[in-house]
Amino acid sequence: MSVVPSAGNGKVTVPSILERKSGISSQNSSPAKITCLTAYDYPTARLLDEAGVDVLLVGDSLGMVVLGYESTLPVTLEEMLQCTRAVRRGTRRALLVADMPYGSYHDDPLEAVRHAVRFVKEAGAEAVKIEGGERRMELIARMVDAEIPVMGHIGLTPQSVNAFGGFRVQGKTEEAGEQLLRDARAVEAAGAFSIVLESIPRELAARITAELKIPTIGIGAGPDCDGQVLVIHDLVGLSFGHKPKFARRYADVGEIISRAAAEYCRDVRQGSFPSDEESYHTRAEQAAALLAQRK
Ligand code: KIV
Repeated sequence: MSVVPSAGNGKVTVPSILERKSGISSQNSSPAKITCLTAYDYPTARLLDEAGVDVLLVGDSLGMVVLGYESTLPVTLEEMLQCTRAVRRGTRRALLVADMPYGSYHDDPLEAVRHAVRFVKEAGAEAVKIEGGERRMELIARMVDAEIPVMGHIGLTPQSVNAFGGFRVQGKTEEAGEQLLRDARAVEAAGAFSIVLESIPRELAARITAELKIPTIGIGAGPDCDGQVLVIHDLVGLSFGHKPKFARRYADVGEIISRAAAEYCRDVRQGSFPSDEESYHTRAEQAAALLAQRK
């Protein structure tokens, strides 16, 4: 299903994402904001790609919204690779970015690069995303050196949930804000092509966006970022539990599924499903013979 990235065929690429940075458009006008959604499977990827979403992120949020874990920490490399392959098969136009799961890049940098290479070689990802700021500089540079485009991710980085003591808005004090600014600069300096800003004050996200030359993609970071990302399950009403205030719901697919399942159960129990039209039939003479055998 994939298409070779080439100028002019409408394929979203790493260079075309870089061109979408506010204020550096070649046409003098502000470029359109970057749209990004998570996807974890083939049908969702197809639908989102055909709807014109620019970036599909195989987020490790799949651990929570698909696999039902309490956090993203248990997600394995193999689970991420399998979902990335499925999303690859459903994606033609969008840029495909895969999250590196917790533990896959936290130890030996050479092993981390080998893991990132697997996303590109075996699963068809066009870039990987890793969480963390200053302390990831060397690793990001190594990946870029290995021809792997990197999307950074700072702020509420879910893989740090234990260190943060929960899922909390980050960068609220002056000191914390300054640290996030340094983190953003470090991610850019290391060679990342874009950076996710998660759950930080709008004003801080606006300052980071104004300073960086790479696009910022916000989630819970206000409207001044160069793009926005949401978890698809939040967008369509398929997630349970706490709903963050930035997670605008555009549909209630959960309600549609519940209703469809309840109606199916009713029809089966009442004997109205399947109907005769929904059944296969033998030829008339064979049907008569089968009927006679039943008596
Ligand atoms: O895993 C994920 O879905 C993410 C996005 C929310 C940015 O990292």
